Amino acid sequence: MPAIVRVVDLVKNYYMGTQTVNVLKGLNLTFEEGDFVALMGPSGSGKSTLLNVLGCLDRPTSGAYYLGDVNVAQMGDDQLSEVRSTYLGFIFQSYNLLPQYTVVENIELPLLYQGIKLDEATKERCVKLAEMVGLSDRLDHRPLQLSGGQQQRVAIARSLVNDPHLILGDEPTGNLDTKTSVEIMQMLRTLNRSGKTIIMVTHENDIAEWARRVIRLRDGRVESDTRNDNRATA
Ligand SMILES: Nc1ncnc2c1ncn2[C@@H]1O[C@H](COP(=O)(O)OP(=O)(O)OP(=O)(O)O)[C@@H](O)[C@H]1O
Ligand SMILES: [Mg+2]
Repeated sequence: MPAIVRVVDLVKNYYMGTQTVNVLKGLNLTFEEGDFVALMGPSGSGKSTLLNVLGCLDRPTSGAYYLGDVNVAQMGDDQLSEVRSTYLGFIFQSYNLLPQYTVVENIELPLLYQGIKLDEATKERCVKLAEMVGLSDRLDHRPLQLSGGQQQRVAIARSLVNDPHLILGDEPTGNLDTKTSVEIMQMLRTLNRSGKTIIMVTHENDIAEWARRVIRLRDGRVESDTRNDNRATA
């Protein structure tokens, strides 16, 4: 399978006054197209920092980050936002929906950010996505009128609206009960089986079991990298 994401000697520091916080300490990782990866590790180990770099929300301090063949570490802000809106989909722990907008309008948002004109065709596409995540009878609801699981399904639909190559999730089931978490994981598994590459942060072993590969970070380094069928990856 072709590599969709590769990071080489990836370092991320934060600078606070005179203090340097060295968070990612030279990561080398390759993610293949069609993979489903769980990123685990203790609090503060750098999981969200890595995900933010992979999501082009933040830039590495040094090292390379190849998305396909392109080193995005060297891109400017405009190019980065272009990459984000055409190549990537995001799902967050806190759903990040806009409260004043309906389900369909929230799903449309990334298109708006991309400068695409909304019309009947884009609306139809968003309605289809809402239906796909089981919200056909909630199209005009606003986030506060939905359960947590339903809000996360809106976020999943929204993450798919630009047909991304790569979906990034930061603890997508972090705020959900066990039963709803299973529903969300079933949805992500279906997406993965349809060809989407997924990288997701989780604290929970039973959520990580849904992934094909588990990478554990500790103190900014890769501690282990295993396949869920118990084969170690090279
Ligand atoms: N903007 C920032 N400025 C300074 N330090 C930061 C910043 N963001 C994160 N850090 C530090 O970087 C380290 C890693 O943070 P990160 O959020 O990546 O951890 P995490 O593995 O996602 O943890 P958690 O499981 O608690 O979400 C932490 O020690 C944190 O304090
Ligand atoms: Mg985190």
